[in-house]
Amino acid sequence: MSVPLIHLVAGARPNFMKIAPLYHELKGADWCRLEIIHTGQHYDYEMSAAFFQDLGLPDPQVHLGVGSGSHAQQTAGVLVAYEKVLLEKAPAWVVVVGDVNSTLACTLAAKKLNLMVAHLEAGLRSFDRSMPEEINRLVTDALADLLWTPSPDGDRNLLHEGVEQERIERVGNIMIDSFELLRPRIEAQETWRRLGLEKGSYGLLTLHRPSNVDHPRSLARIVEQLVAVAQCLPLVFPVHPRTRSRLQDSALWDHLAGAPGMHLLKPQGYIDFMSLLTGCRLALTDSGGIQEETTYLGIPCLTLRPNTERPITVSQGTNRLIGSREIQEAVERVLAGKAGRGRRPELWDGRTARRVAASLRRHLGLP
Ligand code: UD1
Repeated sequence: MSVPLIHLVAGARPNFMKIAPLYHELKGADWCRLEIIHTGQHYDYEMSAAFFQDLGLPDPQVHLGVGSGSHAQQTAGVLVAYEKVLLEKAPAWVVVVGDVNSTLACTLAAKKLNLMVAHLEAGLRSFDRSMPEEINRLVTDALADLLWTPSPDGDRNLLHEGVEQERIERVGNIMIDSFELLRPRIEAQETWRRLGLEKGSYGLLTLHRPSNVDHPRSLARIVEQLVAVAQCLPLVFPVHPRTRSRLQDSALWDHLAGAPGMHLLKPQGYIDFMSLLTGCRLALTDSGGIQEETTYLGIPCLTLRPNTERPITVSQGTNRLIGSREIQEAVERVLAGKAGRGRRPELWDGRTARRVAASLRRHLGLP
């Protein structure tokens, strides 16, 4: 009997740290064969290859090379390209992660061919359908056969949507596995030194959500406050390509680059970024993953969003949601020592990949 083939699908930056622990857990197994499918949604060295290097991932066996475009173009491009791959050689399971356009497109391609799909990081909901990721999460979870959730709220959301309990398995947070896997290298890196900064003396900033960066007026409002904050707390800002182009379009780039205390960087690889995160006084972000990583590390996180699909980072962790007018005041509160330390959610323990592998084995009918 041939060994079952498993596809690990990744397309965009936040996917790579979610497939890496699973790849390392399964690469030596004699009961399955792995292929990494890279859709090409992210393609710049800093947004993709740098992560493969840092995370010890091999070159993908399949690269769909889809690239950027509107949502429909990108999703359709992946759908068409991945279907061809699936028709050539069908895997026993397709594993998709996260909530990007590639996650949705590969799920749809596989389910139309009646193949088995498992979704890692299932059940998260912001209840905000204006977010493209929320649409991706809803469709992926409606279609996938097996839903691996990171926290109890994920289970509850799925049950509420009518998903059968048998399809849901709580496995914990896979991002924490990546951090634990690379912790020694991250801790040795001390990336802040290269910027002439001390540990704990700066804030780490990321910003890329369309709702924050695509509207010139709200982007300008955010930039004004960041410039003010940087005067008392230096800000390290690795700038996402989408944000860079919006800042340049609206002539805010030079203003930000010239602001005292502001360190604009290109997107950082995983090890440098996580080093900067472990060394910061606080994070200011609109990312999903950083809300989780700061909760795990006990670092205050201010999230520039009206809602979060990761509410456990607020109820148990160090995360606080803020509006774009509250940035300065919220930073001052943290600097005044008014942020709680929070605690680590259950199953965020670096052993999620092991639980996922055991689940896959069971679903393949292996003892
Ligand atoms: C995507 C995900 C988002 C995730 C984010 C992390 C969706 C809907 N969104 O958003 O959930 O948090 O990735 O980065 O899937 N670009 C480059 N080089 C690259 C990639 C992108 O220059 O390697 C530029 C292009 O101009 C592109 C733009 O960034 O049009 C946006 O990229 P896209 O993949 O559409 O969405 P992200 O904003 O990165």
